[in-house]
Order: sequence, then C-alpha cells, then structure tokens
Amino acid sequence: MTVELRRLAMRDLSAVEEIERCSYPTPWSRSMFAGELAKPSSICLGAFDADTGTLVGYLIISRYVDAWHVMNVAVAPDHRRHGIAGALLEHLFELTAGDGRRGYTLEVRVSNAGAIRLYERLGFHARGVRRGYYTDNREDALIMWKDPVQEPAVRDTRA
Ligand SMILES: CC(C)(COP(=O)(O)OP(=O)(O)OC[C@H]1O[C@@H](n2cnc3c(N)ncnc32)[C@H](O)[C@@H]1OP(=O)(O)O)[C@@H](O)C(=O)NCCC(=O)NCCS
Repeated sequence: MTVELRRLAMRDLSAVEEIERCSYPTPWSRSMFAGELAKPSSICLGAFDADTGTLVGYLIISRYVDAWHVMNVAVAPDHRRHGIAGALLEHLFELTAGDGRRGYTLEVRVSNAGAIRLYERLGFHARGVRRGYYTDNREDALIMWKDPVQEPAVRDTRA
C-alpha cells in the first residue's frame, strides 16, 4: 500500500473517531479532535491509503513554549507494523526542523512497550514518570523527550 501524508480536515473526523475508538481505552471525543484541528498551534497529520483515500493513521501535535507535545498518535489495527506511525512522526520532524527552541515530548503508558519502542527508535528518551497519570486504571506515564531536530546540513560539495 502506498501511503500519503497530509493535514487532517474536518471531513476526516468520522474516520479519525473510528480508529481512535479501537485504539484507546479512554478515546478522545470528536470535539477534542475538532478543537485541535481549529488551533493554529497544532499540527494534525493524517496517513491515507493513496489508492482508496481511506484514513489509516493520524498524529496530533501541539506547540508549547519549549516543546512540541505529541498529543495523540494511532494507526488502524489492520495497518500496524508497516511503518505508518514512524512515517507520521518523521514527517513532523521535517515540518518542524530548524525550530531550535523546541524539542519534542510525550507521555506513554508504562505498559505500552510497542509505542515506547517506536519512540526510542525515533530518538526519544525516558525523562521521568508521572505517577497515576491515566485516570482509567491509575497507570503511570513515562515522560519521553527528544531534542530539537536541526535543519539538514547543507551538502559539502568540495572535493
Ligand atoms: C503505537 C502505534 C501508533 C504504532 O503504530 P505503527 O504504525 O504500527 O508503528 P510502526 O509500524 O511505525 O512501528 C515502527 C517500530 O516501532 C516499534 N513498534 C511499533 N509497534 C510495536 C509493537 N506493537 N510491538 C513492538 N514494537 C513495536 C517497532 O520497532 C517497529 O518497527 P518494526 O515493525 O520494523 O519492528 C499503534 O500500535 C497504535 O495505534 N496503538 C494504539 C494507540 C497507541 O498506543 N498510541 C500511542 C500512545 S502514546
């Protein structure tokens, strides 16, 4: 499958909700997504099957003073382990490269080994724990951090 990445639009919200509901024990509501889409300080990216236009994953990021905060990332169950979440995050790093003031941060359930592995592969490191962060089961959150991404170096063309 060829995947196309583009900004999410309001018309994508039903498909977002469908993936969200089978990805999280306490899914975001439609209005939470609509709120993020409306904020100029958020970046909301979707991954689409290029042939059918079907949404297969998404990434929601908010800009704070000192960091880009990964608010939500999910991939449709049938499309997991094909590099889609990785591609969404890499695209985010490209879009925000050169913003030397801001690194990247997120919280992830300490039991979510697959997501932690994904973030580590992309350069995030564990920075601490928020005790009892998740309200459904009082699970701890691992706080992860990645330093700002530099602009790609200008290629040195000297012999
Ligand atoms: C976490 C999630 C977004 C990963 O999406 P994905 O598109 O499957 O991730 P990728 O294919 O880009 O994974 C890249 C790498 O991350 C690691 N990884 C991702 N999911 C993994 C899993 N379930 N188990 C182990 N490693 C995993 C692997 O190293 C993987 O590379 P590999 O497949 O070559 O081994 C997806 O499983 C999901 O939607 N989960 C439910 C929602 C969720 O937990 N979101 C994160 C909340 S913080």
